Amino acid sequence: LKCMQTAQTLLAWYDANARVLPWRVAPFDRAQGRAPDPYRVWLSEIMLQQTTVAAVKAYFERFTALWPTVQDLAAAPDDAVMAEWAGLGYYARARNLLKCARAVVADYDGVFPHDHATLLTLPGIGPYTASAVSAIAFDAPETVLDGNVERVMSRLFLVEMPLPKSKPELMTLAQSLTPQLRAGDYAQAVMDLGATVCTPKSPACGICPLRRECRALAAGIAAELPKKDPK
Ligand code: ADE
Repeated sequence: LKCMQTAQTLLAWYDANARVLPWRVAPFDRAQGRAPDPYRVWLSEIMLQQTTVAAVKAYFERFTALWPTVQDLAAAPDDAVMAEWAGLGYYARARNLLKCARAVVADYDGVFPHDHATLLTLPGIGPYTASAVSAIAFDAPETVLDGNVERVMSRLFLVEMPLPKSKPELMTLAQSLTPQLRAGDYAQAVMDLGATVCTPKSPACGICPLRRECRALAAGIAAELPKKDPK
């Protein structure tokens, strides 16, 4: 019950503070009932795997201008896609991107599968991306655990065990907060909180929507978490 309250607090914060990003549906359009485009959600999540939001924005705009749909991308010449990807790094991502677009067109009639298990069978889609796409594009109650979410969970629940050993526990805690409704907004709310408020070095605890329930803040050690084992 406390978890449901926490999720609602985060969703209310997101409604007022969500970052405006090119793969998201603007608040006004969402209020009109416009759903996110699974192709755009998938493309953004692949680009964001090893690259920052700031760097991804321009690439995402160029890709979607050149190839507005998964059919367009599937039909693109390999060289053209690799050339547009230049600078993003991790070129296996671009090769898998094309393979995945072609598989969605050939095997699923151009419609992205909704469920986690089927998404996992596609090239370049691992557990993180399958959760992100099913939650953000289809509102499936899947839990997304990236570095931002790990940091927010460590602090909120005062997890002092270091990463990466703490990952399973952080996943369980993140799952306990994931709401059945608006799971996609919830996932992006935690990401945005981690990126803009619950930041690694000097978290802005004074303006955090979770400041009243954050156990690390109460203990005075928010900035010290998560602990990390040396690599
Ligand atoms: N990082 C990975 N996916 C993201 C998303 N949908 N919004 C913001 N940051 C992200």
